[in-house]
Amino acid sequence: MGARGLFISFEGIDGSGKSTQARLLAEHLAAAGRDVVATREPGGAPGAEAIRRLLVEGDPARWSAETEILLFNAARRDHLERTIQPALDRGAVVVSDRFADSTRVYQGVARASLRPLVDRLHDLVIGVEPDLTFVIDMDARAALERGLARRSGEDRFEELGLGFQEALRAGFLALAREYPTRVQIIDGARAPEVIAQDVAARVKAHLP
Ligand code: ADP
Ligand code: TYD
Repeated sequence: MGARGLFISFEGIDGSGKSTQARLLAEHLAAAGRDVVATREPGGAPGAEAIRRLLVEGDPARWSAETEILLFNAARRDHLERTIQPALDRGAVVVSDRFADSTRVYQGVARASLRPLVDRLHDLVIGVEPDLTFVIDMDARAALERGLARRSGEDRFEELGLGFQEALRAGFLALAREYPTRVQIIDGARAPEVIAQDVAARVKAHLP
């Protein structure tokens, strides 16, 4: 996968600064003359964005954990078919704000016993990993305050509270141990431009 292009994802808890860093990296690469596709999950293609609205709005108890996993995979499959794979095939750099690691961590933390279902579905219908994943790591309380301050109307997961965000943070750190060559931890408690320079330096080594 990514034989021609380069697939980069940003992960982390809500409010950690993923969207900011994904945007800054995409701008940096575009300014250097690279073909860049900036995208996000859930979403990143018209059908997947329609599924996103079912996932991020409304009552936290709206879906069972199993249904939620199916919806995230449906959105991801559409995103992969319509946006990510065509971009990689033409040699572009894809920068995605979240990808499959979010399902491993969010849905796996909601119920640890669901991780096998998450993994089997991923193998069956996605089967692709980013070349490089940055986990923006920071204190859960500070991230939650940043996120809720935005009042985006998409706070279904943030409303699950501080304990949940702390469990998610631990889940992302565990992923970095599980996938040590792909997943890199980035200290998110620094100024956005400083983090962006750190990320850009790490990406440079991987550029085709
Ligand atoms: P995420 O995509 O992880 O939810 P965002 O990039 O949307 O996070 O950032 C959440 C909020 O925090 C936004 O209001 C953003 O402007 C702010 N922010 C992002 N990065 C930083 C940073 N390094 N320091 C302080 N505030 C930040
Ligand atoms: P996002 O828009 O990235 O939210 P934020 O900017 O607040 O971090 O993602 C929306 C929510 O969906 C977020 O709370 C994380 C959750 N999510 C999952 O639970 N599983 C997944 O597979 C993905 C991609 C996102």
